[in-house]
Amino acid sequence: MRSYHTASSLLALLGGFQYALGEELSDAPPAKDFLRRAGASPTLIGNYVYFDGGEISQLLDGKTLKESKRSSNAVNSTISIDMSKSWTASEVTLRTIERPWPSKSNQALWTDQETGTFWVWGGKWIGGKNMVPNEIWKFTTDGNGGGRWAKEIPANPGLFNDLEQYEHGAWANTATTGFSIGGMASGWTKKYRGGNQVIPGMVAFNMKTKVFQNGTTAFSPFDTLAAASAQFVPTFGANGLVMVFGGLALPVASEPKWETGIPYDLRNLTFFDPETKDAYWQIASGTIPPSPRSQFCVAGFENSDGGYEILLSGGYNHRDKYYYGDSYILSLPGFVWTRVPDSPAGNRAYHHCVSVGKRQVLSIGGTKGPGWDDADLAPQGLTLFDMTDLKWKDSYDADAAAYERAPDIKTWYTNGSFDAVEWSSDSVQRLFVTKSTTDSQDPAQDPGSSTTSTPSPSASVKPESSTPVAAIAGGVVGGVAGIALIGAVAWLLLRRRRNRNATPGPFPGSEDAYSDGHYAPEVVKANPTVTPGASPLGFKTGVVELTSQPSHAELDVGATPTNPLLHYSAPVEMDATPIRY
Ligand SMILES: *[C@@H]1O[C@H](CO)[C@@H](O)[C@H](O)[C@H]1NC(C)=O
Ligand SMILES: *[C@@H]1O[C@H](CO)[C@@H](O)[C@H](O)[C@H]1NC(C)=O
Ligand SMILES: *[C@@H]1O[C@H](CO)[C@@H](O)[C@H](O)[C@H]1NC(C)=O
Ligand SMILES: *[C@@H]1O[C@H](CO)[C@@H](O)[C@H](O)[C@H]1NC(C)=O
Repeated sequence: MRSYHTASSLLALLGGFQYALGEELSDAPPAKDFLRRAGASPTLIGNYVYFDGGEISQLLDGKTLKESKRSSNAVNSTISIDMSKSWTASEVTLRTIERPWPSKSNQALWTDQETGTFWVWGGKWIGGKNMVPNEIWKFTTDGNGGGRWAKEIPANPGLFNDLEQYEHGAWANTATTGFSIGGMASGWTKKYRGGNQVIPGMVAFNMKTKVFQNGTTAFSPFDTLAAASAQFVPTFGANGLVMVFGGLALPVASEPKWETGIPYDLRNLTFFDPETKDAYWQIASGTIPPSPRSQFCVAGFENSDGGYEILLSGGYNHRDKYYYGDSYILSLPGFVWTRVPDSPAGNRAYHHCVSVGKRQVLSIGGTKGPGWDDADLAPQGLTLFDMTDLKWKDSYDADAAAYERAPDIKTWYTNGSFDAVEWSSDSVQRLFVTKSTTDSQDPAQDPGSSTTSTPSPSASVKPESSTPVAAIAGGVVGGVAGIALIGAVAWLLLRRRRNRNATPGPFPGSEDAYSDGHYAPEVVKANPTVTPGASPLGFKTGVVELTSQPSHAELDVGATPTNPLLHYSAPVEMDATPIRY
């Protein structure tokens, strides 16, 4: 028993103590104890992936926590992974970093690579506890996988304090500006909020000037968007483009119900210029990912041919209550989707993806059911996809070669398919094709190729001088730039509007797939109609079934909009989603 002179017996002794004392909950448990992680938001800065927020479930002393009050727990640390060395998912060390405020799920995360900082904003208060008014937090990395959190002070606190607190916005950022497009506010996102409401328009945060903007303040009617994903593509146009994928349109004027949300399909794709806010659409070809699809992940790489490819993986179908296990690559400039192998780690939603190691996508977390007790087949919830080999794997290769398009996707560009693309407009064509493929165009009007013309497919128009235009900079909120933003968002949203003649259906309640748990936000606790077992993670919160509203002064005012112009969009283009699960 006292044989501590060898390392192995010392380890055995420690193991015995650990067993005797019982294992403790951890934000990064050993792989053998890990069950599920979901709702974390990642980024890559230098040699480190950081992720923040979300929940985790794990075995303690070999048992799930099913009998206890709750089988998942808030992740209270920020986590980093060293990407300078190769690793396997079952063995990689997750470093935990202290986090000085209560954790949230589904936060927007914006990264300033130049200063090695990122911000998290919005999201859901896990368990509906410790909710505070609007805050934005900033993490400054130290270059060694650590860093420090501090509360950020927005340059325009008045507007900031009035912003809704919400989750399920589609977030992405350029070198200067973070966006959160659409989203959903509820009793889980804002203290005492009495109802769920979809967030129209989008919010922008200038990471350099710290100015927040609400791009919808003077505009209605809207279409809305919730639970979509966004990807910034720096490769095309003068300022790059923000691509917005999937998600649902939900009525602003009545209680949103996920399953009847109108899906934005993945055939007719929307994107906008992050500076001018000019919005565009283009019909994609190839194997279109089925929709409705929400809570999926996207991540992308620029390739050596001057194009850009985006992986889209998994997600949830709210209509049919189905977790997707499929994955696709969208290749630009061709707007062609290619289906790639399904992840062997299984179907999932509420995961997040981040581009790492030249050509690999790291997928973090995800669930595939309402519970938390089914062990993820991906060790520690981590799985990787090689964008060139088109293979899922459970290890990270720090020495991977530079990204190149997979051969089949390459072929598509060389066998004439690219030349056959029907562009939605001349301006979209100019964004993605240089003039040499088309007839004479006025170079002055071509935002994509101001100086050179290269052979198609071009995309040679990198914004080398990606100088931030002052569109949302400089504190000009409410000024000309603000109006331009509003107008552009109006355009973006109007373009996405479908048939406006449909009548709103009843929205008796809201339900989310990602449900388990037994906590309720405080507004619900006050109400006896709460369904037991309602979700802290989704919207089946009971909040929506309030028979009498809490009488708190902060009770939401936005839940009863009076604008008669608000319309609910009807389902259209269902033929654009040919595969039905
Ligand atoms: C995070 O903190 C909360 C509140 O203290 C606690 O209930 C929860 O168990 C913690 N999570 C983990 C994984 O330890
Ligand atoms: C932005 O303003 C619009 C219109 O006033 C409002 O409906 C929306 O909730 C605001 N967005 C946020 C995030 O506060
Ligand atoms: C071109 O290549 C793509 C991808 O390999 C293929 O799907 C398509 O059918 C080919 N088209 C022609 C015209 O050969
Ligand atoms: C694509 O969607 C836009 C709205 O976002 C719409 O104006 C356009 O007509 C659609 N294109 C097609 C071919 O359906």
